[in-house]
Amino acid sequence: MASKNKIQRLSGMHDILPEDQYYYEKIYDTCRQIADFYDFKKMDTPLLEYSDLYIKGAGISSDIVQKQMYTLKTKGGDSLTLRPEFTPGIARAYIEHGMNNLPQPVKLFSYGPVFRYEHPQAGRYRQFHQFNVEVIGDGSPVVDAQLIQFFYNILKELKVKNIVVEVNSIGDSQCRPYYRKLLVNYLKSRDSALCADCRRRAKENPLRVLDCKEEKCQRVISQAPQTIDHLCEECHSHFKSVLELLDEAEIPYRLNPHLVRGLDYYTKTVFEMYSEEEKKEGEDLNPRLCLAAGGRYDGLFKLLGSEATKAAGGAMGVERVNMLIKNRQAQPAKTQSAEVFLAQLGTAAKRKSLKLFDDFRKARIRVAENFGKDSLKAQLRAADKEEVKYTLLLGQKEVLEGTIIIRDMKTGKQDTVKFDKVVDEVKKRLR
Ligand code: HAM
Repeated sequence: MASKNKIQRLSGMHDILPEDQYYYEKIYDTCRQIADFYDFKKMDTPLLEYSDLYIKGAGISSDIVQKQMYTLKTKGGDSLTLRPEFTPGIARAYIEHGMNNLPQPVKLFSYGPVFRYEHPQAGRYRQFHQFNVEVIGDGSPVVDAQLIQFFYNILKELKVKNIVVEVNSIGDSQCRPYYRKLLVNYLKSRDSALCADCRRRAKENPLRVLDCKEEKCQRVISQAPQTIDHLCEECHSHFKSVLELLDEAEIPYRLNPHLVRGLDYYTKTVFEMYSEEEKKEGEDLNPRLCLAAGGRYDGLFKLLGSEATKAAGGAMGVERVNMLIKNRQAQPAKTQSAEVFLAQLGTAAKRKSLKLFDDFRKARIRVAENFGKDSLKAQLRAADKEEVKYTLLLGQKEVLEGTIIIRDMKTGKQDTVKFDKVVDEVKKRLR
């Protein structure tokens, strides 16, 4: 039984074990390669920012700000928050570094952990990784379509099956106030049919009601006025272009008129991607877990006190994609195994071995060892397991003579060579 005092990892936080690293690296490498092709440049921002950045960015009534921020007070009294997402931090950095003076758009990608105090469940963590991209300084619909294409390509490349792309337009500061009014009136008339959370949302952030998964709210939502029926001319033509571009690019999509997203900064296009893969027996995979999401956010820069700047972006949840590919794609066998094993016997030999091991590293020859073992038998057993071509034997006698033995593991033939020349000699034999 686990002791009460045993310290364990925090709920919703997870360790990425060595055997899982392969998948995380594969996901990152795939994202990175495709990001390079789309000409995104890497950008890192701090994990901690002033809380105000997220309050202004994501919106005071968003779930992230209301419930999910890991916030701390410094000794100096500042309120800081662990990043719950990348977008506001990237926008802050763009403003702070005067990136509006660079050729536009500025295309940036970021990768790393983000923190949200959520109810942990399968695929929902409190610390998770995002691969995030932003295109700042361009308002054209082709950017929105290209972002959707970008995430679709990544998921395809990672062999995620049955990818579903959902898109919607939520309008902008021109048309949204009118739509909001319509929605508020409608929700008022159906107040008693909403869940408790949505009754609150209907007052604070009515669009978020459209995102509720509660069955009773779903009935109300199905008859609610839809944003796409109330877009201004500009938003309407923008959205039409996005859809035409997606058609031309042969990206299958579904129009979801209730897709609104949980962050206040979005305008016009919003998108989410899922996989409708079949669950395998015993898998706790929720097929409706959103894998990647984003949209246009032309209003964010003004919210942060800067001049209006058009921008769009999106982020992919790495843990969720990992869950999908991990059980379905076998890890390839270890490719870079050692070619040489260095066995040592006695204190003097052990002392010489560390330096010799490093000489091989400099010569880019992989050497396996088991320096912690003193018995030669145990070391030779380890050498056999590694399936190396050569084993080097260094004992007391060899140290005194300034030599070392090279044993060919296939033939069993042994040669004694000068200790100082062994790296060159092994290099020659491996050629
Ligand atoms: P988001 O939808 O909040 O958007 O998160 C993006 C992705 O992160 C989700 O689609 C999901 O895959 C993953 N994700 C979110 N929460 C969790 C969680 N608790 N556990 C595991 N994975 C999770 C954003 O963060 C926006 N900043 C995206 C964006 C960039 N929009 C414009 N630019």
